[in-house]
Amino acid sequence: EPHHGKAAKGLRFTPVAPNTADAVTVPEGYGQNVVIRWGEPILRGAPAFDPTRQSAEAQAGQFGYNNDFLTLLPLHSRGGTRGGAGHRGGADQLLVANHEYTNEELMFAGYDPEKPTREQVEIAWAAHGLSVVAVAGQHRTGALRAVPRHPLNRRITATTPFEVTGPAAGSRLLRTSADPRGRRVLGTLNNCSGGTTPWGTVLSGEENFNQYFAHAEQVTNPQRAAALKRYGVVGGASQRRWERFDDRFDLTKEPNEVHRFGWVVEVDPYDPDSTPRKHTALGRFKHEAAQPRLTRDGHAVVYMGDDERFDYFYKFVSKKTMRRGRSAEDRRHNLSLLDEGTLYVARLSGNSPADEIDGRGTLPEDGEFDGTGRWIPLAAGDRSFVEGMSAEEVYVFTRLAADKAGATKMDRPEDIEPSPRTGRVYVALTNNTDRGAAGKAGPDEANPRRANKHGQVLEFAERGDDPQSLRFSWRLFLVCGDPEDPGTYFGGFPKDEVSPISCPDNVTFDGYGNLWLSTDGNELGSHDGLFGVATAGRRRGQVRQFLTVPTGAETCGPLVQDRRVLVAVQHPGEVDGASVEKPASSWPDGPGKYVRPSVVAVWPEDGSDVGR
Ligand code: FEO
Ligand code: CA
Ligand code: CA
Ligand code: CA
Repeated sequence: EPHHGKAAKGLRFTPVAPNTADAVTVPEGYGQNVVIRWGEPILRGAPAFDPTRQSAEAQAGQFGYNNDFLTLLPLHSRGGTRGGAGHRGGADQLLVANHEYTNEELMFAGYDPEKPTREQVEIAWAAHGLSVVAVAGQHRTGALRAVPRHPLNRRITATTPFEVTGPAAGSRLLRTSADPRGRRVLGTLNNCSGGTTPWGTVLSGEENFNQYFAHAEQVTNPQRAAALKRYGVVGGASQRRWERFDDRFDLTKEPNEVHRFGWVVEVDPYDPDSTPRKHTALGRFKHEAAQPRLTRDGHAVVYMGDDERFDYFYKFVSKKTMRRGRSAEDRRHNLSLLDEGTLYVARLSGNSPADEIDGRGTLPEDGEFDGTGRWIPLAAGDRSFVEGMSAEEVYVFTRLAADKAGATKMDRPEDIEPSPRTGRVYVALTNNTDRGAAGKAGPDEANPRRANKHGQVLEFAERGDDPQSLRFSWRLFLVCGDPEDPGTYFGGFPKDEVSPISCPDNVTFDGYGNLWLSTDGNELGSHDGLFGVATAGRRRGQVRQFLTVPTGAETCGPLVQDRRVLVAVQHPGEVDGASVEKPASSWPDGPGKYVRPSVVAVWPEDGSDVGR
């Protein structure tokens, strides 16, 4: 059993054992509180949550459903901006959360999936998107509470206007009857994870947008049908039947609306009146997340995963450089950084003979799954590097461009983030049960297991530690699963001293440079959870479990501050056959109450820093 003390600084807690409790289970000596739940009012005038009388108007002023990505931004350091009277209501930080999707069967009593009402559909539109909400820390503990009616609080939903920016803005592929110029989109959908920019904005990835669009099976043009299929846009009626209430979700009526989703969006949380933007320069795919860093001379480099079996990971390098000044003009300049640059996709090669990759996770003779990689350019501004595709086609059909460029098919690239300490970059590859199946790509050194249920974490270093470099070296840091399974690897750390981990999804770092991983889809019989692991030093690879989440939930949005850990408990109670009438979870408020996705803060009760 791993135990307290023999761990890297920042990870000195008693690991939580795998379990299936319908609770957020935290280490001994740690406290927790629910910071905000689905439906809590955040805007002025929004009513208290009453699930029996919910309305779209109420939901548009309340915290959305299925919180995923989280970030906290300082409130005090931007005294010049509106709402900069940051201490209003004791608020000291701004929480930004994504609301990935809705579980109608857990939101509406008596929900009929074949026949949703207009009101239910409009509530779901209002429950998607993002929330910006001020939060206040407690003096004696690490607890956080939401500050409703703060002037910076904001809801962005499936109907909020967005501006399309970058080289594909205005493209014929983006024009619709409601927007003949192809520059203004209503809403953002399936916002999964994201990133925080060095210039104080938030990026959010539009992930499984395919599920909202209906009647792909009626599209007859073969080229168009193939492109839809490559993005998973298939079938007849959509799961939520939104096409009944808005033609834009019907591919036979609005063929281009689907091209207006699948982007990275950027929100300026310090300006509640700003129009959020969709950045075409960063390509269109099932964007899991988008994590920026700066080169030494100030170019923004954004890493991005496309979460699908056998899809790719990407990076974008901005043409312009960030300004450090704080004038309005500097801010405008920084807000345009992602409008122009070069989009690359990753191609990896292993350095061990192919016959040493046995598909079971056995280490090759050189002792590591490792090798080198190249960033293959796809497009820069109006210039395409992909034969037979224009630049705007590369941006709108990025998956097709990357297929042509010979990118490496990965085991579902989810979150990607560089370590602020070492500059090395970590890619969560969550799983791929189709690896090695008939007609599919077989194991390779970076994706070494067939029918990969537990996933792996890849670590790469850009050549010369230059984020703009076109070459990198890589190795697998973790090959996840039960440590007793010989096909697992924990950075070389002794496997009798690590926590089992399965299906890594989101990644973040603490102030000591430890990597924290949250999981989605645990295949080891435990609920999902949050784990910390040292990436350097003697304890490299020592995975330690910090918490587990309730029944049916995945762990999202992890953030590790000195005094607290924040997680988004997404889709608690999402179990086949569960409903309002037959809930599978009673978290967070106990039996007889609606199960509610919520943000939770966890802190050491003795007032010390996390993991000290
Ligand atoms: Fe929304 Fe790839 O997780
Ligand atoms: Ca090797
Ligand atoms: Ca995710
Ligand atoms: Ca996931």
